[in-house]
Amino acid sequence: MVYSRLRVEEKMLIEAFEKEGVSLNLIHEDSILLPLFNDGEFPIRPPAVVLNRVISASHAFYVSRALESKGIKVVSSSKAIANCLDKALTTLLLVESGVPVPRTYLAFSPDKALEAIERVGYPAVVKPVNGSWGRLLAKVNDRDAAEAVLEHKYTLGNGLQKIFYVQEYVNKPGRDIRSFVVGRRCIAAIYRVSPHWITNTARGGEARNCPLTPELVELSERSARAVDGEIVAIDLFETPSGELIVNEINHSPEFRNSIAPTGVDIPGEIVRYIKSFL
Ligand SMILES: Nc1ncnc2c1ncn2[C@@H]1O[C@H](COP(=O)(O)OP(=O)(O)O)[C@@H](O)[C@H]1O
Ligand SMILES: [Mg+2]
Repeated sequence: MVYSRLRVEEKMLIEAFEKEGVSLNLIHEDSILLPLFNDGEFPIRPPAVVLNRVISASHAFYVSRALESKGIKVVSSSKAIANCLDKALTTLLLVESGVPVPRTYLAFSPDKALEAIERVGYPAVVKPVNGSWGRLLAKVNDRDAAEAVLEHKYTLGNGLQKIFYVQEYVNKPGRDIRSFVVGRRCIAAIYRVSPHWITNTARGGEARNCPLTPELVELSERSARAVDGEIVAIDLFETPSGELIVNEINHSPEFRNSIAPTGVDIPGEIVRYIKSFL
């Protein structure tokens, strides 16, 4: 397992590997030197299988890609990471697979981003294409706020903040859904309940069990396939008309708060999936 920090999740995974009798080599990302050519000193050799738990998506991408070039099986694959780390790319792949998504536009100038906001109507949501944990999301309630947010992003933001990902605001029923797919099979789901419109558990959203309906399972598994995801978490919204739509996909999910409410041994499922390649 390659990791950045031993969070609760990584500790649970280590325990699960022990329980499954799998010998585990823990490699911190800072200790890695990845030769990009054939110098015979590659730090990991096949037939190892690597679980990539590196937190920074761009670091994780390079780790997976470099290991893959040596013929090593890595989960998540570099393809899955690339597909999930960019919200615009994820949205395109979902739509191409027939998965319903919120109405979303991409723009590169504040003018066109404002046009997108007015097309989806107020309130609108503006997000960085590469964010996580609910950071730097803006719910824009009127034109004054829209102009201010867009100008701030355009003037003060780094290059990626100048890519405007503009989405309709989905009036969720005080919660959204996060489902877990392991080995392309949907194994569990939680509601994330919050008085705030941003429901991430990292931001105080409370996890409750969400029953696995055939619709939720089918949509989650289709979404995972759309991004080539093997161990992923899918964020879904319930629309006011009762439809399920998919918001985004996470390639290295946190799951500490989802085990007790669902009763599903998520780290055990992950480890057994990894073990199936050994
Ligand atoms: N278009 C939207 N309509 C309503 N709520 C949203 C919308 N987009 C995001 N949210 C809320 O904000 C949370 C974080 O957004 P998300 O796109 O998943 O970004 P992150 O990668 O930071 O988790 C979502 O789980 C949801 O609660
Ligand atoms: Mg999310």
